[in-house]
Amino acid sequence: MSDYLLIKKVFEAKPVDQTIIVKGWIKSLRQSKKFSFMVVNDGTTQKDLQIIVDGTLSNYEEVCKLTIGSSVEVEGLLVAAQGKQPVEMQAKRVHVYCVNGEDYPLQKKETSLEYLREIAHLRSRTNTFSAVFRLRHVLAQATHEYFTNESYAYLHTPIITASDAEGAGEMFRLSTLNYDKLPRTDKGQIDFKQDYFGRETFLSVSGQLEAETFAVGGLGRVYTFGPTFRSENSNTARHLSEFWMVEPETAFATLEDNAKLATGYVKHLIKKSIELCGDELEFLASRYAPDNLKTLEHVMTSPFEMVTYTNAVAILQEVSKTHKFEFPVSWGMDLQTEHERFLAEQYFKRPTIVTDYPKEIKSFYMKQSEDQKTVRAMDVLVPGVGELIGGSQREENYDKLVHRMEELKMDIKNYWWYLDLRKYGSVPHSGFGLGFERAVMYISGMTNIRDVIPFPRTPKNAEF
Ligand code: 4AD
Ligand code: MG
Repeated sequence: MSDYLLIKKVFEAKPVDQTIIVKGWIKSLRQSKKFSFMVVNDGTTQKDLQIIVDGTLSNYEEVCKLTIGSSVEVEGLLVAAQGKQPVEMQAKRVHVYCVNGEDYPLQKKETSLEYLREIAHLRSRTNTFSAVFRLRHVLAQATHEYFTNESYAYLHTPIITASDAEGAGEMFRLSTLNYDKLPRTDKGQIDFKQDYFGRETFLSVSGQLEAETFAVGGLGRVYTFGPTFRSENSNTARHLSEFWMVEPETAFATLEDNAKLATGYVKHLIKKSIELCGDELEFLASRYAPDNLKTLEHVMTSPFEMVTYTNAVAILQEVSKTHKFEFPVSWGMDLQTEHERFLAEQYFKRPTIVTDYPKEIKSFYMKQSEDQKTVRAMDVLVPGVGELIGGSQREENYDKLVHRMEELKMDIKNYWWYLDLRKYGSVPHSGFGLGFERAVMYISGMTNIRDVIPFPRTPKNAEF
């Protein structure tokens, strides 16, 4: 690497009247016989550097052949400017790495997000996607920062697992068995004893169960941040088959403590985004969600709404008299995205934490309430997205947990290690999972989850 400055650093330090070297890709161009303007970006910042190339340059002919997306190294004098940016460069030397041909798919004309999904390997070169993915990075950093500050240890839970953490049967099987010659037991069933791990294994839907074992009696406070996999056949703008989840788990914490932690975390994500990705957020707002920045600033400084599921259903039923929902609302049903979004966007107009759901629509591990009907669950709903976080206080009573698992006809022997927790040093504990892509959607204002993960995995699609 020669001694060159990242364009981000050029705008931070503004070394005016100095000769510097930058490297990058051409965003736009204006060429004439006398001089050329090139707008160059290297991906480290939303800001583009304008470079003026004089026609007297020895390889000016080569410069005139440059096209959009071509890669260059330029040495030149940085000078103050009155344009969009406070500085620009006067080129003294231009080295050309690669000139793109006419077939380059990202010509200047506006390209739709749908089209860009078909060329996902190139879309990070657009202003939109470089902004989204710089923001995604900042959100990842802010996640580690927030939980570290709250004394949580980052735990790497396994991706390969034998147990269904959500009990919803949405797992991808992992096997090295030969499909053409499946080994059979005497009873004619597939003999998984002969499979790689000697049993059925899957890709994990959640690191929660393993995180619980480390939180209770081990480290007290842990969080996971890793890929999770679901084979649910939901082809929506909010579901991926492979997504990243952040799952804190806290010993000695009630549902109320859990809600507080979630609120603090979401606000921290917003704060760091505004602090470190102001240019990116402004750009994305100007393109896709005009009021986004103002809304985020408001969310950062105001409390989240808390409402029980029972009250939320009552509100939605009342509203149904004048507002048409596709799915009618009744106690016991799982709230649909339209209901979640209505509550957060139109009714409360802020992030809303719905608590105490009917036990039938929630997972086996949630703490059972005295009413026998609800569990101490919480979902955090946000405008534009709907469910951002799902979590609960956990059932710490051995007998109650086993009883619920039996009711649900779960294969209890697979969970012996999870049940041990309720025998040895059991304490009240809580946790939640934040869908990381949904957080990126919420803060960026992007409306399709496929546009906030580098290479989306969705039903019938695993290109790239
Ligand atoms: O509500 P979920 O299923 O909860 C759990 O997995 C718990 N084990 C979490 C915990 O308590 N530790 O998922 C948590 C979040 C959802 O709120 C949603 O944001 C996201 O994960 N999510 C998805 N994101 C993208 N695509 C999917 N298919 C998702 N399924 C869930
Ligand atoms: Mg959920």
